Amino acid sequence: MVNLKGKDFLKLIDYTPEEIEYLINLAEDFKKKKKQGIPHKLHEGKNIALIFEKTSTRTRCAFEVAAYDLGMNVTYLDPTGSQIGKKESIADTARVLSGMYDGIEYRGFGQEIVEELAKYSSVPVWNGLTNEFHPTQILADFLTMKEQFGYLKGLNFVYMGDARYNMGNSLMIGCAKMGVNFTACAPKEFMPSQQLIDIANGYAKQSGAKLQFTEDVVKATTNADVIYTDVWVSMGEPESVWQERIDKLSPYQVNSKVMKNAKESAIFMHCLPSFHDLKTTLGKEMGKKFNRVDMEVTDEVFESKQSVVFREAENRMHTIKAVISATI
Ligand code: CP
Ligand code: NVA
Repeated sequence: MVNLKGKDFLKLIDYTPEEIEYLINLAEDFKKKKKQGIPHKLHEGKNIALIFEKTSTRTRCAFEVAAYDLGMNVTYLDPTGSQIGKKESIADTARVLSGMYDGIEYRGFGQEIVEELAKYSSVPVWNGLTNEFHPTQILADFLTMKEQFGYLKGLNFVYMGDARYNMGNSLMIGCAKMGVNFTACAPKEFMPSQQLIDIANGYAKQSGAKLQFTEDVVKATTNADVIYTDVWVSMGEPESVWQERIDKLSPYQVNSKVMKNAKESAIFMHCLPSFHDLKTTLGKEMGKKFNRVDMEVTDEVFESKQSVVFREAENRMHTIKAVISATI
């Protein structure tokens, strides 16, 4: 019997495959209830704090709506609106908030910050994205894949682009745990660290997942069920890295040629936000500067029938609801 009461959700390394499966199943159940209009205010009167040291659309909205659906109240602390890290340490903040709230979400920079927050907090802490990991995103991705294919084990999953940051790292760990064959398709210096690859290989031995690291796009994407990418420059990174990223990662753009090389039934996934057109301020600015109309994915693929990115985004809410409800 899985019991996650009081447990932090900081990275998938801390969760067994059974516990991850339990959260996906619970999310499916919540999604059904929500669609059928069945109330599920299971945690009426509880309060949670959402700390965001980086901006967010999906994660913040997912936590807020999930909490409201569960009957809870929410306080949102924006990137400038609290004393955290400036006038008050993480350890002190954790103990202050633990006295008022039943759970704390944290989005920020180093993984060590959310780990420190959890160490000093007496209530569950949920990682809403760090530089190293984005575990709630992976649950939504797995729910989306399960809905699409009916199962996870044995699927061929390909991650293209910057594979050494939060998305590449957490997808590799998640896939290795759940028996999903994981390929990172990227230049050598954009691969996850050897230390993390070793950890993932340990899980893969247990689950039967095959892990592959290659620079060869055709080899990587042949027979793929899922093609996944993320932005080439992440939140908090300096503008000065754009040129290098474009030079090195352009061959790993997800375009129609890549999708054609995958299985006919393959889907395109992205955690979002995505740089696929010039309709944003940053898109316009970078597009003009580097003479491009897109970056990690073409608009054609993004808008294609194979793209499941908006269902994936919706699933953030159902899966985050599962994490809150299971741990609080
Ligand atoms: N995918 C994701 O975490 O989106 P936000 O940055 O909008 O929260
Ligand atoms: N790698 C991206 C993910 C956003 C959800 C970032 O950290 O900005």
